[in-house]
Amino acid sequence: MAASKPLLDAMKDRRSIYATSPENPPTTIARVEEIVTHVIKHSPSPFNYQFARSVILSGEAHKKFWSVVYDGVEKAVPAAAWEGHLQNFCKMFRDTTWGTVMWFEDGETASFFAESWSDQSSGMHQINAWMALEAEGFGATLQHFHWVPDVTEYFQKELGLPASWKPKSQLVFGTPVAPAGEKTFKPIEEKLKIFS
Ligand SMILES: Cc1cc2nc3c(=O)[nH]c(=O)nc-3n(C[C@H](O)[C@H](O)[C@H](O)COP(=O)(O)O)c2cc1C
Repeated sequence: MAASKPLLDAMKDRRSIYATSPENPPTTIARVEEIVTHVIKHSPSPFNYQFARSVILSGEAHKKFWSVVYDGVEKAVPAAAWEGHLQNFCKMFRDTTWGTVMWFEDGETASFFAESWSDQSSGMHQINAWMALEAEGFGATLQHFHWVPDVTEYFQKELGLPASWKPKSQLVFGTPVAPAGEKTFKPIEEKLKIFS
């Protein structure tokens, strides 16, 4: 698969980009499928168990999912918590994004030891996909709305996913319309030790 940009640049350029549009995607859904296929095939898992699972949503399926999130969160939290930031946040994903790559881990295929590191392995898949999508020109954020009861029901009833697929995150993306916000960095001396 053709590389989009050098790895270290892609790592630096991957940011949480909330200001996106659902119009004029920088690439096709076929390319997104190619990327996610590549990520699932090549990202590591404990003992090579390969229990990462993914679902790609675009078009009406994507809109439907974020409508379920919007309505489901509104139902699940008190009005005081919903109105304002949370409502705007959910509205933004429903109305201004183009696609979603959802991540799961298949609990049924995981052994005890493998399951202990399932989250780490899922994180490796997620960061690879996040970096690759941004390298293609999308702007993405990492979300976690699977605590919402209606979302669990949607996974099982609407998408027909096995109950053993444990949801981990939803990488939601669109065409960037503004850069990511400023990011601060702690001094490297606090974070890295080198011995030789
Ligand atoms: C494990 C993990 C979970 C995160 N969960 C969320 C989330 O639920 N919602 C969200 O908007 N951002 C989430 N983020 C994004 C972080 O807030 C963001 O990566 C961080 O502030 C650094 O900014 P950057 O992504 O622009 O580099 C998450 C990031 C990581 C690594």
